[in-house]
Amino acid sequence: MKKIIALTGAGISAESGLSTFRDSGGLWEEYNVYDVATPEAWESNQELVLEFYNKRRKQVIDASPNAAHHALASMEKKYDVTIITQNVDDLHERAGSKNVVHLHGELGKSRSSTDSSLIYNIEGWELKPGDLCEKKSQLRPHVVWFGEAVPMMEVAARITEQADILIVVGSSLSVYPAAGLISVAKKNIPKYLIDPKEVSVHDIDNLSCIKEKASIGVPKLAKTLMENES
Ligand code: OAD
Repeated sequence: MKKIIALTGAGISAESGLSTFRDSGGLWEEYNVYDVATPEAWESNQELVLEFYNKRRKQVIDASPNAAHHALASMEKKYDVTIITQNVDDLHERAGSKNVVHLHGELGKSRSSTDSSLIYNIEGWELKPGDLCEKKSQLRPHVVWFGEAVPMMEVAARITEQADILIVVGSSLSVYPAAGLISVAKKNIPKYLIDPKEVSVHDIDNLSCIKEKASIGVPKLAKTLMENES
């Protein structure tokens, strides 16, 4: 089976009602990233950080996967598909995708603020001050903040190197190291970038840009790839 790697960003979940970060009206217009998504923010105002991620978690629980998530999942019938997502939502899993690598963590999980190996599922939408791990430290969202390492990056790079087909959906490709993955894929394989806006990419061979919303562009591409030999 040929391997499809899909690199996804906030744009794939936009039509499920979840805000992107850098579009007009996006989250980084409403919030200062340094106030809510950095270790320094956690040091200075845990309540605000918890509230920011609680709001996100609540929205995700109320959201549903859209046609783009479903189309990527449906390609597993014919391809070995791995999704590498920058998203912290679980819409890929809820659409049925079996192999999902979360580069920036998962909203549905918490972890100890003193021992990163202690990871828990969050019941419901709220993580509160005073919610403690088994070592009695405050629980924090299991997400990657700016200034923190991306522990899944090496795994993601190794998987991306194996791709026979690369699909990038709904990412401005402006946050590293995640954005660098597109350059890790083999030169000669077909690559598709689906985004209604122009995304700045340089020196990527064999790249077809499909200027459509994810809910239109991904199902169309999936249909074509499903009709092809695999
Ligand atoms: P961005 O908000 O930077 O980019 C979203 C992209 O989605 C843009 O290129 C949009 O044009 C595109 N888009 C919008 N609506 C779309 C639609 N309906 N269909 C397809 N594409 C659409 O989001 P990311 O690139 O995911 O990190 O952001 C990367 C990281 O920056 C996030 O994971 C987060 C953020 O700060 C952390 O918090 C660590």
